[in-house]
Amino acid sequence: LQVWKTPAEALAGVDAHRRAGRRVGLVPTMGNLHAGHRSLLERARAECAAVVATLFVNPLQFDNPEDLAKYPRTEAEDLEMCRQAGVDAVFMPSVAAMYPPNSTTIVEVRGVQDPLCGRSRPGHFAGVATVVAKLFHIAPADVAYFGLKDYQQSLLIRRMVRDLNFPIAVRLCPTVREPDGLAMSSRNSRLTPAHRAQAVVISRMLRLAEARFVAGERAVEPLKTRMRALLADAPAAELDYLEFAHADTLEAVERLDGPTVVAAACRFGGVRLIDNVLLGLSGED
Ligand code: PAF
Repeated sequence: LQVWKTPAEALAGVDAHRRAGRRVGLVPTMGNLHAGHRSLLERARAECAAVVATLFVNPLQFDNPEDLAKYPRTEAEDLEMCRQAGVDAVFMPSVAAMYPPNSTTIVEVRGVQDPLCGRSRPGHFAGVATVVAKLFHIAPADVAYFGLKDYQQSLLIRRMVRDLNFPIAVRLCPTVREPDGLAMSSRNSRLTPAHRAQAVVISRMLRLAEARFVAGERAVEPLKTRMRALLADAPAAELDYLEFAHADTLEAVERLDGPTVVAAACRFGGVRLIDNVLLGLSGED
């Protein structure tokens, strides 16, 4: 496993793979790897001759300094997972290497960045778009892999790649869940046992939406009411949002007539969790 610390090393390393005719897969992460990340690494391993993972906790995408400080850092375990998944190289730069003094260029994907998580996390998606644009330049792979758990992020990255003509294919991979349905997230480890038990309510709400959609229900408001009723079993849950939106534009919908994302964000004692389900399309490629 090669470890690259500077953008120059990563650029030269990826370039060497590509000149040798190897298709390069890139898996950008913020570390604290779990089974969801492993599924991205494995998919990249299956589809590409060379796999590069990035481990970088990007300060630019944290709207809250406390959240940044508390973000779990597990470098040794992350490198071990990369080794086990057959990753060829890891890019793990310092903050100074990624953002030299007076870095003032920001990438914004207007529209897509505004609703859902954009409302409660101002600046978050500009931080994501900026770092991902930088990673695509620093490690110019053929294919990049992202998880559908962060649906708004995945849409934003696809839009940025199209709008700015990045020569990279974006693959979106299904959410990996705990046995009880909770979506895998680095934040889950920060939940107290009581909050962890209640956090399953998010996926229960989404599963209810899916089941009612399959049963033929199309009106959103009554469905939202039924979903919110499930929160009675999770007194610690503070719902940030529960939205039904068009899967391509993220505009709110009132009826389930087209491809729709049902997205929820919920706080448990200061830990903010998100999840979503797609109705009317598979979402994966
Ligand atoms: O999804 C994440 O882990 C991050 O937002 C990403 C895409 C690695 C950018 O920092």
